[in-house]
Amino acid sequence: DIDDHLEPRPPVVTIMGHVDHGKTSLLDAIRKANVVSGEAGGITQHIGAYQVTSPLGGKITFIDTPGHAAFTAMRARGAKVTDIVVLVVAADDGVMPQTVEAINHAAAAKVPMIVAINKVDKPDAKPERVRTELLQYNVQVESMGGETLEIEVSAKQHTNLDKLLEAIQLQAEILNLQANPERPAEGTVIEAKLDRGRGPVATVLVQRGTLKVGDIVVAGAEWGRVRALISDVGANMPEAGPSVPVEVLGFNGTPEAGDRVAVVENEARAREITEYRERQKRENAAVRLST
Ligand code: GTP
Ligand code: NA
Ligand code: MG
Repeated sequence: DIDDHLEPRPPVVTIMGHVDHGKTSLLDAIRKANVVSGEAGGITQHIGAYQVTSPLGGKITFIDTPGHAAFTAMRARGAKVTDIVVLVVAADDGVMPQTVEAINHAAAAKVPMIVAINKVDKPDAKPERVRTELLQYNVQVESMGGETLEIEVSAKQHTNLDKLLEAIQLQAEILNLQANPERPAEGTVIEAKLDRGRGPVATVLVQRGTLKVGDIVVAGAEWGRVRALISDVGANMPEAGPSVPVEVLGFNGTPEAGDRVAVVENEARAREITEYRERQKRENAAVRLST
């Protein structure tokens, strides 16, 4: 069995929560980066994926999601590829509709959740009220006798970020996450776009195996030979192992977010798979038109 050889892999952590509760700010603070300032209207409209080294030494893969009500599908996809959800709740605003939606996504995906009560630096912050409100949605945090880890943080003042990372590592250890890095790669398209200069660009989360430059890769109804792998900090990489998010260049067409990714043995096999899927797509579209 190709999955006999298992090695520990980093946790994949999706950040979810209501719009403007500070998800991207929190990730920026953890990464010491500044993504928020480049966003149109301060609203996240796509999924970002990053890997950091925690103070305890291990790596953690983070997936940012938008909190705006319009982006339900992106949040659902984020919850599906993740090991742990970090639910960000602003202490001044409390539990809001997309907070509840995120709780439901985590529950549906059977993924453990850690609550980050953010913006505790604000004068009108009411972290206690957040804890009480969460009870209504069956989330009982540790300090209220429950099992859900909760950390009060301030993305603005960089308060308790180490505690949050420790909680993530603790939760990850319990999950005992493993993957075989030596098999042909499999993963999921997190997002994809057609870039004017670079052609189709797919951000792929590798979940099993190791993806390598030169591999023949299939995603949904598209395929290609991997021309380059670009890391979250823009570096060229020869390969990407389990839990690594990577931009993949070399697809002949633009795959769709959520598509499964797999390395196949040769171009003929890739053509066979994608032509079959393309045909299925056309047939489904024809059925929809005729009914
Ligand atoms: P969407 O992705 O659009 O859903 O928003 P988000 O959850 O990523 O929130 P974002 O990081 O864009 O922050 C929204 C606003 O809250 C910005 O103006 C941040 O500066 C502010 N903010 C974030 N974290 C904190 C915090 O800890 N304290 C204070 N005072 N403000 C914060
Ligand atoms: Na925002
Ligand atoms: Mg954001």
